[in-house]
Amino acid sequence: MVMALSFIEQAIREIQEEAGGDRVVMALSGGVDSSVCAALASRALGDRLVPIYIDTGLMRKGETDRIRQLFGHLNLQVIDAGEEFFRALRGVIDPEQKRKVIGERFIRIFEREARKAGAKHLLQGTIYPDRIESQGGIKSHHNVGGMPLSIEFKRVIEPLRDLYKDEVRNVAGALALPPEIQHRMPFPGPGLAVRVLGEVTPEKIAIVRAANAIVEDELVEQYRPWQCFAALLGLGTGVKGDNRIHGWIVAVRAVDSRDGMTADPVLLPHQVMGRIASRITSEIPEVARAVYDITPKPPATIEYE
Ligand code: XMP
Repeated sequence: MVMALSFIEQAIREIQEEAGGDRVVMALSGGVDSSVCAALASRALGDRLVPIYIDTGLMRKGETDRIRQLFGHLNLQVIDAGEEFFRALRGVIDPEQKRKVIGERFIRIFEREARKAGAKHLLQGTIYPDRIESQGGIKSHHNVGGMPLSIEFKRVIEPLRDLYKDEVRNVAGALALPPEIQHRMPFPGPGLAVRVLGEVTPEKIAIVRAANAIVEDELVEQYRPWQCFAALLGLGTGVKGDNRIHGWIVAVRAVDSRDGMTADPVLLPHQVMGRIASRITSEIPEVARAVYDITPKPPATIEYE
């Protein structure tokens, strides 16, 4: 706690110094990292902070409404950019390319909004493992490696750049953010797009969104895993009613981890896995099969792309 308090003072000072007298635009996703950033920056800058939530169309069920409720008091701007993202993702199959396309859209939208708001700098909730994995070429985090070089901001301010996730959660506690934010599961910047193998379409996102909601409903409260979600793998055969169908195969994943760099599968009781499979295949007509992923990281990653 002492460490968190001194970190808070130091981060506020740093944000003030880096911003000078300018306005700062920030990407608020509602995860613990960006929420902590917003709370720090709001204390540092007051109404010179311009927090923007981009609804990419790739968010979880109910997420945009939740963000409005939680952060409406910070003069939050909500940008409805779903169509723009889906258009940019059309025909994109390669996972790295997907991340690049999404990262670029994010930045372009921020540049656009920052210009409108007269903001000179970009504030981001990048944490230490994001930087390490991007430097190591493991993947491009949308908020690091996916950033185009022609960026127009004078500065990119990253107050959490040296923290691990559990340290960020401690800071959230010290800032008295709601427990819901403090304990929130990580959600990747590229959103549900990295939970759909291959091309991203609005139809596939709707299916994976419904499956994610079921997995969270069954597991978050009960098991408190580091992360749990569903991903859309591809099409396979199934039988629904009297018909043999071509339906989606959904992977269900729940892992425990300290920092996201390694992870172990949560060994769920068969009964729980069975109920999840039954709900996903009965509540989502397009899904024919659900499988549970028991691969640790490494060799698998947590997300599917
Ligand atoms: P992987 O899939 O590489 O993910 O094992 C490790 C952790 O990072 C999250 N993740 C991301 N977070 N931007 C983020 O802010 C991203 O582009 C991104 N990709 C993965 C993932 O959900 C897991 O917690």
